[in-house]
Amino acid sequence: MKKEIKVFPDHESMSIAVAEEIINTATSTIEAKGFFSLALSGGDTPRRLYDILSSEGKGINWAKVHFLWGDERYVPWTSPESNYRMAFENLFSKIEIPESNINPIPTNSKDPVADAKTYEQRLSELLNGAGFMDLVLLGVGRDGHTASLFPGSPVLREKKLVAAVTAPKGYKIRERITLTPTAINKAQKVFFLVSGVGKKEIMRTVLKGEEDGGKFPAKMIRPKGQLKWFLDYQAAGDIDFIM
Ligand code: 6PG
Repeated sequence: MKKEIKVFPDHESMSIAVAEEIINTATSTIEAKGFFSLALSGGDTPRRLYDILSSEGKGINWAKVHFLWGDERYVPWTSPESNYRMAFENLFSKIEIPESNINPIPTNSKDPVADAKTYEQRLSELLNGAGFMDLVLLGVGRDGHTASLFPGSPVLREKKLVAAVTAPKGYKIRERITLTPTAINKAQKVFFLVSGVGKKEIMRTVLKGEEDGGKFPAKMIRPKGQLKWFLDYQAAGDIDFIM
C-alpha cells in the first residue's frame, strides 16, 4: 500500500484538490473498466467537496458511477442527521444520475442488524464482479474513529463487510451502520479528508506510529492500493512530524 499525505492552506483548497483527484480517478477507472464505485463519508468535512464535485464533475459519465456509503446514522434519510441527505442536498440533487446508481444504507426497517445484512448483500451484488470499491472517502473523529468504527469496538475485528454498531455515549445519534475495516481495506483507494484545528491532536496520533489494535480505528485502514491523506494546515499543525 502506497501512503501519501497532502496538506493544503485551508478547507476550500483541500476540497478542490480532492474533487480533482476523484474526477481523475473516476475518469481513468471508467475508461479502464466502464464502472467506478465510490463510497461516501458523512459528517461535515466532505459537504463542500460534494458541492464542488456537482459543478466540476460535468465531464464524468455519472451513469457509470455507483455510490455507496462508508457509514450511516440510523435515522430516516430525510433527517438532517442523515449522511444520505447531506450527499443528496450537495451532490445528487445537482447532477444527472440514474437513481439505481445511488445505494444508500437502509435505515427504515427498525432493525439495524437486518438493514446491515441487506446492505452487505447489496455491496456483494454490486461489487463482486467488479473487484471491490474503487475509492472510499473517510473522515476522522477527535477520538480516532472513522466511518462508524469507534475505539475498542468488537466490530473492528469483524470479518463481515457491514455491521450495526452503537456509538459511545455522547454521540447525538448512537445507532449506526458501518462498513467494517475488512470491507474498507478491500478498496483500491482510500482518501481521508481532515480539516480544522480540532483534529490537530488526533492527526499527530493517527499519522505517527503503527496500527495499535483499534485504540484509534483510523490507523487500521490499509487499502490494497493507495491511501491518501488530505489535510488543511489547521489539522496538520506543525507538519514536520509528518514528512
Ligand atoms: C459520520 C462520519 C464520521 C465522520 C467523522 C468526522 O457519519 O459522522 O462518517 O466518521 O467522517 O466523525 O466528522 P466531521 O467531518 O463532521 O468532523
